[in-house]
Amino acid sequence: MGKNRFGVAVAVAFLALIHVSVSIPFVMIHGISAECSDKTNSNFPRLLTNLSGSHGFCLEIGNGKSDSWLMPLSKQAEILCDKVKNIEELRQGYNIVARSQGNLIARGLIEFCDNGPKVYNYISLAGPHAGISSVPWCGKGIWCVEADKLIEKDIYTEYVQDHLAPSGYIKIPTAITKYLQSSKYLPKLNNEIPNQRNATYKDRFTSLQNLVLVKFQNDTVIVPNDSSWFGFYSDGANQPLLSAQQTKLYTEDWIGLKTLDVAGKVKFVSVPGGHLRMATSDIVKYVVPYLQNQPSSIQRLNREKKETLRH
Ligand SMILES: *[C@@H]1O[C@H](CO)[C@@H](O)[C@H](O)[C@H]1NC(C)=O
Ligand SMILES: *[C@@H]1O[C@H](CO)[C@@H](O)[C@H](O)[C@H]1NC(C)=O
Ligand SMILES: *[C@@H]1O[C@H](CO)[C@@H](O)[C@H](O)[C@H]1NC(C)=O
Ligand SMILES: *[C@@H]1O[C@H](CO)[C@@H](O)[C@H](O)[C@H]1NC(C)=O
Repeated sequence: MGKNRFGVAVAVAFLALIHVSVSIPFVMIHGISAECSDKTNSNFPRLLTNLSGSHGFCLEIGNGKSDSWLMPLSKQAEILCDKVKNIEELRQGYNIVARSQGNLIARGLIEFCDNGPKVYNYISLAGPHAGISSVPWCGKGIWCVEADKLIEKDIYTEYVQDHLAPSGYIKIPTAITKYLQSSKYLPKLNNEIPNQRNATYKDRFTSLQNLVLVKFQNDTVIVPNDSSWFGFYSDGANQPLLSAQQTKLYTEDWIGLKTLDVAGKVKFVSVPGGHLRMATSDIVKYVVPYLQNQPSSIQRLNREKKETLRH
């Protein structure tokens, strides 16, 4: 009898513990020319935590800023895959907020990371998902000398592909054959190569609960800015610009974007402002609700309750 009551008390305490810990954590992935310790990227996860009540943090890759330019994206995604698998807090699943180039690493994490923890909601801010047709400006960092030299060379050579991160998502509409043959990242990520489409990447991307694609109306870094919604130029020319729904990636559903959209899980959000310049009111409206994540918390709680009852 006494032993039984003790068991019940333990079970109740355990359920209470699960209840307070249901808020799903989030990770933030920064963009190019940035690092977790800079002002913007250290403040942003804190702001999101303050607004949502969910814990989150920025995940760094290598040494930050210069690696964001010079390390190929496949390697960057691999590093994050290893990282998330070793973070205890993320074991039960997590949400992702990614900025600019960080979105291609985020999608690498979702699509390529074998045995990684589950990703529930993915909020993409200014992601160059369908590629960009010109290289962003490096600026004045010392590594920019190297980056600039690489940009001047043929972007689809093996050397540039292996040493300049943005070369992984530069898609020159008039050089599609070369792009499909020699670009080492985006064609794989978008399942673009006809006889090399991998159903696992699609399954994983399709298992997201929500995909929020935020496009910035005055974005001059992501060219075309519609790439943040998976829109891009048609093959062969800089005209016409196709909306996401007009691209083959969507109509033939290479990565599950259409499946997700038909299921009502994709939010196409357009906000005023330049690259990544998001008003707090828009953050509250379009980002925060997906970090609070009620439905999945409840599902998770039910699942854990069932597991508890089984034991
Ligand atoms: C988050 O909230 C803390 C505590 O109220 C505050 O000190 C901090 O400035 C806030 N940070 C951001 C980025 O909003
Ligand atoms: C597809 O990707 C998965 C996961 O990375 C991998 O295990 C599998 O071998 C790939 N399939 C093909 C046909 O390449
Ligand atoms: C954003 O894309 C639209 C086309 O969809 C274009 O009309 C507009 O000029 C672009 N904005 C900027 C700042 O380039
Ligand atoms: C967007 O760009 C236009 C034209 O340059 C400018 O008039 C407008 O103020 C900009 N809006 C925002 C929100 O940055």
